Amino acid sequence: MVVSGTKIAQEISSSRSEVWRLIQQLRALGVDVAGHPATGYQLRSVPDLLLPEILRPLLRGTIFNSNLHHFYKISSTNTAAMAAAADGAAHGSVLLAEEQTAGRGRGANAWQSPRSTGIYCSAVVRPSVPPSDVLVLSLAAGLAVQTAIQQVDSRVQPDLKWPNDLLIDGKKVCGILTEMNAEATRVRYIVVGIGVNVNQATFPKELGATSLRLVTGSEWSRVELVAALLKSLDREYRLLIEDPEARRDILRRFAEKSSWVSGKKVRIEENGSAFEGTTEGLDSRGFLLVRTAHGVQTVLSGTVRER
Ligand code: BTN
Repeated sequence: MVVSGTKIAQEISSSRSEVWRLIQQLRALGVDVAGHPATGYQLRSVPDLLLPEILRPLLRGTIFNSNLHHFYKISSTNTAAMAAAADGAAHGSVLLAEEQTAGRGRGANAWQSPRSTGIYCSAVVRPSVPPSDVLVLSLAAGLAVQTAIQQVDSRVQPDLKWPNDLLIDGKKVCGILTEMNAEATRVRYIVVGIGVNVNQATFPKELGATSLRLVTGSEWSRVELVAALLKSLDREYRLLIEDPEARRDILRRFAEKSSWVSGKKVRIEENGSAFEGTTEGLDSRGFLLVRTAHGVQTVLSGTVRER
């Protein structure tokens, strides 16, 4: 539909020249508007940007709807969220970026974050819990992403790899980096950083990664997915904080939804050494148990590989 500049100007009680100025601004943001003042304007497409104005109404009733921050380019949403939390950022603050120039993964890994193709999201939460509860929150975040992906497209069945990866056909589609600032017995704040490969068309082979678009053959709405994801994370977070049984329930569901928790032959690399065994469940804090030739070992932070 073509709409004249005069009609738009009337509707927003402004002038045609102001309409032209606003159209130019929208175009600079990636909104595809055809036409000019003499011909009228036609909206062709709105970009899939993770803008607070678009997400806020979708997140009504969650802890994440009042402090949404959007960046076109940032070094790392986790680095920025940790700094913001140190400066007093509110519980439930969310940082979303179109592009990260220094996206971080677990350990010293980098997280590839090309513009407007993935979801790069960090949420600040301030629960009154001991640091030993944070692993369960991180596992719950993995469950939240898994649920969100399946809500958007039930054909996609991502596997959960302990502690925090989502894999499809053995390739990584999501990574979670949970960081915190804590005293020995009390968490000050936690940042849950989530990276999802959504619309990437290719990956270097050595990365062992895939995207939702590569898996399904069509583009995904990042807005729809990030809204589903934050709603799902809100549900998991509330459960964990409000329900004394939640921790056990999260561990049970994680074990149920992950092919890695029991009976998987694995090689664990931890603190410069390695051992092999078969996974045998999670302990009560969420650490992975592996049966080896020398008994059951608890994996605290290592890298888990299938063998
Ligand atoms: C991993 O699998 O190693 C974790 C990857 C976490 C990536 C996300 S993207 C949003 C947030 N900002 C970061 O710098 N990292 C996390």
